[in-house]
Amino acid sequence: MAMSSDTMKIQVEDISSINGTLILPCFEGCEKPPSKTMNEVDRVTRSLIKKILASDDFSGKSEENMSVFGGGNKVILVGLGKKENITTKIARDTGAKLFAKLNKKHGKTLTLRFSSDWKLDSMNAFVEGMILRDYKYDKYLSKNDEDDTDDSPYNLHIQCTPKNVKSLSDLCKESQNIASGVHLARDLGNAPPNDLYPMAYANMAKDWANGKKNVSLTVIDWEGILENKMGGLENVGKGSSRKPCMVIFEINKPAKGKGNPPIIVGKGITFDTGGISLKPGASMDEMKYDMHGSATVFGLMQALHANGHSEHIIGISCMAENMPSANAYRPGDVITTYSGKTIEVLNTDAEGRNVLADGLWKSGEFNPKFIIDLATLTGACVVALGHEASGLWSNNDELLEKIRAMGAEVDELAWPMPLLPAFEKEMTGSKIADVRNLGTSRWGGSNTAAAFLKQFVPKMSDDKDAEQYPWAHLDIAGTAWGASTNATVAHGATGVHVRTLYHLIKNE
Ligand code: BES
Ligand code: MG
Ligand code: ZN
Repeated sequence: MAMSSDTMKIQVEDISSINGTLILPCFEGCEKPPSKTMNEVDRVTRSLIKKILASDDFSGKSEENMSVFGGGNKVILVGLGKKENITTKIARDTGAKLFAKLNKKHGKTLTLRFSSDWKLDSMNAFVEGMILRDYKYDKYLSKNDEDDTDDSPYNLHIQCTPKNVKSLSDLCKESQNIASGVHLARDLGNAPPNDLYPMAYANMAKDWANGKKNVSLTVIDWEGILENKMGGLENVGKGSSRKPCMVIFEINKPAKGKGNPPIIVGKGITFDTGGISLKPGASMDEMKYDMHGSATVFGLMQALHANGHSEHIIGISCMAENMPSANAYRPGDVITTYSGKTIEVLNTDAEGRNVLADGLWKSGEFNPKFIIDLATLTGACVVALGHEASGLWSNNDELLEKIRAMGAEVDELAWPMPLLPAFEKEMTGSKIADVRNLGTSRWGGSNTAAAFLKQFVPKMSDDKDAEQYPWAHLDIAGTAWGASTNATVAHGATGVHVRTLYHLIKNE
C-alpha cells in the first residue's frame, strides 16, 4: 500500500531574502510590516500592502487573509486576531486554513516570515497546522497526463528573529515527524477495506519495523490466536475469509526484565458490517475506519520512533474483519476470551469490545505503567459528544486528568465520562456467562461499553483483591472521521490522538 505524498521541505532561517510567495501573519491592528520587509518587496507591492492595511479591507482579525499581488511579489497577509488572545489552537488552525487556500498561483516556494513579537510555541503551532493540512488521499485516482497539478512538495522557508532560529528549527522537525505519524494513521483509516485487511496491516507493520534496530514486532496470526485461546479475536474474525490477528509493536525493549512500559491498545476492525446482527446499508462504507484505534497505534509508533524516543513503549492492535457468513459467530453464542472470562454475545455488532477484551488482557503480561485503549466503539458516543470530543473513561483519576489536559493542549479534546458501578453491574448481569456484550437497554451505550472493557483490565497481581493497572479508554467513534470543524483535516480519517499520546508519552 502506498504511503502519503512527499512532505514539505522546511528550513528555518534568519529574516533574509524572500523566496517565492511571502506569507505575513499579522495580529489585529498591525499597521504595517517591519520596514525591512517593506523595503524588500517591490514598489507596487509595498504601496498595495500599505493601502490594504490602511483601509477597512484587512485589519488582522482572525479568519481574515488576503493575497496581494504586486509587480514582482506575491504576498499573503494572514489575520490572527488580537495578539494578547493568541493560543496554539488559533495559530495551528490559522496555519491549516491558510494552507488549504494555497493554489497554483502561489507556487511551491513560500517564505513564512514571523515578526519579533511571535512566541516560539505559536510559531511552531502555525507551522504544524500547515504541515498537518498538507495531506491528500489520492492514491486510488488514475493520474492523467494532461493533468497539470504539481504534486511536488512545497519548499517552506520559515523566517524569524535570529535568537529563535535553532529552537524553532528543532520544534518544526519534531512537528514534521509527528505529522508523519498522523498522516500514516490517516492513510490507514482511509484505506479501502479490500486492500487493508488484518494481515495486510500486520505485513505493513512488519515492513515498517524491518531494519529498525530498536523496534520488535510480533504478529499473533490465526494459528496463534487458536493456540492462545484468544476467543474474542477468534470469534469476531472467524466469519471472514481474511483471518484476524494481534499485532504487537515494541520499541526500546529493555535487554533485561520486562520494563514498565506505557501500553496503547487499538481496536482494528478493518471492516464492520455488524456481522449476523447486520448494519443497515446507509453509510456502511464508512465502517472501513473502524480500525482507527489501530491506525492511531501505528501512527504513534511512527511518530515516537521518528523523533528518536528512547523509552520503552508497547502498542497492541487487535485486528479482525466483522462479516456475516456460515462461519460467523452469532447472537446467543457464549465465547471464552483470552482472560478465561466468558461473554454472552447478544449482538455481533458489539464486536469491538470482544476483540479489545483479548488485547487488554494481553497487556497484563508486560508489567504496564498504564494502559490506554482507543476504539471507534459506539454510535452512542457520537450521540453524546458529536464530532467535537472523544469520550474518556478511566479507573484512575490521575491518568484521566493527564489525558484530558494533554488533549486540550493539542486540541484533540477528550471528555471525561462516567465509569459507574451501575453500568458494570448491568454488563456482568448475564445469567449464563461472566459478561454480556450488550446493555439491558440502549441508554448510556458508550458507558456500558466502557464498563464492559473494565472487566478485562488486568490486575497488578494474581491476588483476587489486587488492584487493576491504571487504564483509560478513549471512544473515538465521533472524532476519528472528518469533523467539519477540524481545520487540520479536510475530510476522511483524522489521525486523532496521535499528537495527544505522543506528547503524553514523551512527558512520562
Ligand atoms: N463500529 C461501531 C461503532 C461506530 C458507530 C463507530 C458509528 C463509528 C461510527 C461498533 O462496532 C458498533 O457497531 N457498535 C454498536 C454497539 C451496539 C450494538 C451495542 C453501536 O454503536 O450501535
Ligand atoms: Mg459493530
Ligand atoms: Zn465496530
